Amino acid sequence: MKAVIWTKYGSPDVLQLGEVEKPEPKDNEVLVKIHAATVTAGDCEMRRLKFPFLLSLPMRIYIGFRKPARITILGMELAGEIESTGKDVKRFKAGDRVFGTPGFHMGAYAEYICLPTSPEEMRGTLVKLTDGISYEEAAAVSIGGLEALHFLRQANIQSGQKVLINGAGGSIGTFAVQLAKHYGAEVIAVDSSEKLDMLRSIGADHVVDYTQKDFTQSGEMYDVIFDVVGRSSFSRSVRMIKKNGYYLIGNPGPSHMLQGAWISKTTSRKVIFGTSNHNMEDLTFLAKLIEAGKIKTVIDRRYPLEQIVEAHRYVETDQKKGNVIITLVE
Ligand SMILES: NC(=O)c1ccc[n+]([C@@H]2O[C@H](COP(=O)([O-])OP(=O)(O)OC[C@H]3O[C@@H](n4cnc5c(N)ncnc54)[C@H](OP(=O)(O)O)[C@@H]3O)[C@@H](O)[C@H]2O)c1
Repeated sequence: MKAVIWTKYGSPDVLQLGEVEKPEPKDNEVLVKIHAATVTAGDCEMRRLKFPFLLSLPMRIYIGFRKPARITILGMELAGEIESTGKDVKRFKAGDRVFGTPGFHMGAYAEYICLPTSPEEMRGTLVKLTDGISYEEAAAVSIGGLEALHFLRQANIQSGQKVLINGAGGSIGTFAVQLAKHYGAEVIAVDSSEKLDMLRSIGADHVVDYTQKDFTQSGEMYDVIFDVVGRSSFSRSVRMIKKNGYYLIGNPGPSHMLQGAWISKTTSRKVIFGTSNHNMEDLTFLAKLIEAGKIKTVIDRRYPLEQIVEAHRYVETDQKKGNVIITLVE
């Protein structure tokens, strides 16, 4: 089968289209023919191994010290069709449309992937997909949508509350804006100028161009700030949170975690970080919202698998609005 092999840590050119053996499902696994995958900021960070030292060391131990060895195919979001199942699989059958994530095992930049299905062995999430959603729309929900839901749920948003989303124009942010609107919030979306029209079009009530204005200097107060990219000033952001409000950080550094734990313990404000637990019910919930037309997957560009290098280059230009999709089956 065709797959994109990750040969080294580095620029997009380290990704090479090649042929690898088609996997065979074990007794508890399904073989998924992948129709759509995504290129995310996280994939690019992983490809370059662009992490703070404290994180890059365990990553090297997990993936390969000098070059990718234990994991050689990137890609953490996918949608496709079950081609066959192992003999113990009860939840799925051949022909089922599915979407989900292989988690940190990755492997979605390929024509096929085998995924375990029993809850004890599940390393990501896989759920059935109804006919009302395309594979491309579904693929981007598995991490972008799930992370947005994971954070916003913890803030228990009430109708009429003011919610600011920083880094709103990307994969997680575009879902977060729409989910916050779905919960009845007044949404302030912060991103660069080219993304602001798109953010208005998906429901943002107010937009802020971070290249022109620092939202932390505005003097406004918010019930919730969701800093998807974790790049705003921690101390100023916390001061903008109302009593009993929430500061959610999608991409926290070690100092955010330490200060956040202290603020949550000593004040009425809560600082939340962490990652979603790839919950199947949450993924199904998001798919239902999309099917009902309540939220949508923002798709910027589509690339075939053969143009994976171009797709990674585009994501690194920082122009991506919402999601970039890899289409494997038209
Ligand atoms: N917590 C978790 O479990 C988890 C899961 C997945 C991903 N992540 C991490 O979360 C981060 C965001 O993920 P994503 O997929 O949503 O990324 P993305 O699609 O690249 O979106 C990030 C958005 O933030 C904007 N941005 C960049 N710098 C900014 C700043 N200083 N102020 C305001 N906006 C800014 C970017 O626009 P411009 O580039 O035009 O500035 C872009 O629109 C990534 O670092 C990713 O690795 C965390």
